[in-house]
Amino acid sequence: MKNLNLAVFSGDGIGPEITTEAIKVLKKLASMGHFDLCLEFGLVGGSAIKEKNTPLPTETLKLAIDSDAILFGAVGDNDFDHLPHKQRPEAAILGLRKELNLFANLRPAVVFPELADSSSLKRDVIAGLDLIIVRELTGDIYFGEPRGIKKNNLGEKVGINTMVYSESEIIRIAKIAFEIARKRDKRLVSVDKANVLETMQLWRDTVTDVSKNYPDVSLSHMFVDNAAMQLAKNPKQFDVILTGNIFGDILSDEVSILTGSIGMLPSASINESKKGLFEPIHGSAPDIAGSNVANPLATILSVSMMLRITFDLDVSADLIENAVKKVLNNNIATPDICRSGSIKVGTSEMGDAVLKAMI
Ligand code: IPM
Ligand code: MG
Repeated sequence: MKNLNLAVFSGDGIGPEITTEAIKVLKKLASMGHFDLCLEFGLVGGSAIKEKNTPLPTETLKLAIDSDAILFGAVGDNDFDHLPHKQRPEAAILGLRKELNLFANLRPAVVFPELADSSSLKRDVIAGLDLIIVRELTGDIYFGEPRGIKKNNLGEKVGINTMVYSESEIIRIAKIAFEIARKRDKRLVSVDKANVLETMQLWRDTVTDVSKNYPDVSLSHMFVDNAAMQLAKNPKQFDVILTGNIFGDILSDEVSILTGSIGMLPSASINESKKGLFEPIHGSAPDIAGSNVANPLATILSVSMMLRITFDLDVSADLIENAVKKVLNNNIATPDICRSGSIKVGTSEMGDAVLKAMI
């Protein structure tokens, strides 16, 4: 039997509530004999700043490095908005991505039939939607140098961030996107801003070069502004979207709402050897923290991505996904996905409902 050594970093806001539900699911699978489970917990984000004065303590980073995979809740706490960026809660997730070389961020967006009316878009625009965003995660303006707020020679403050991509960074993420497209509908749209930015011209040229090794996948290119519009107008035209770090951040929030709620979207951030960090794409939502209303399904579905991608445990992953489908089909809903006729439940009851459906 496989032994899963997992690091669990629940973080801030609703992070602890949603990871608690995901852990219940993992423990249930372990009790059903799917795998052995060893969990190690670490502090990240605002909660780490409060106790250790840093968002990513060295012991947390060590746990991450020593684990087979990481289950992550969320980071973000407005109490620390006054701190320099490197000391804010968000620095924890950015540091983990960089230190573990988690360059490929996979963000699938699927519309469950029961939620087709929960989206702000019309049912016929989004029903049946099934796409995936492949977002580069360790480069771009997030990490590019120079950066900072400096004074110019007139004594005025100037903010600087730099969009940088090397060919090798583009090639490795493009290959992941083509491989994924190969197993799906074989349609890849690469999103850039090549009409204005040199970095993005290199992106486009490099992705085009990589495409020569994947003649079975049809590649097209789209500017990011148009992609944002097309996603709202006709999202079903997309199968796989490949894009850089900042555009992927923005477009994945847009895509999440097509599915009904940002509380439904899981993600995987993986390195070359498929080790990964698995987290919901939503943030820490401090406004609803501690009130048992957050939707744990994105985190539970992140566990299913972990089992599938890092551990090749497809049967266990299928069990989780089918349980989520059953729960939605039974009209059980947290407030964010509540519709007429739903049985409204809280975070922990939603977790219990998924457990019950896992037989
Ligand atoms: C995300 C988040 C992060 C990002 C934040 C929390 C740093 O928005 O994972 O999409 O910008 O990448
Ligand atoms: Mg984001």
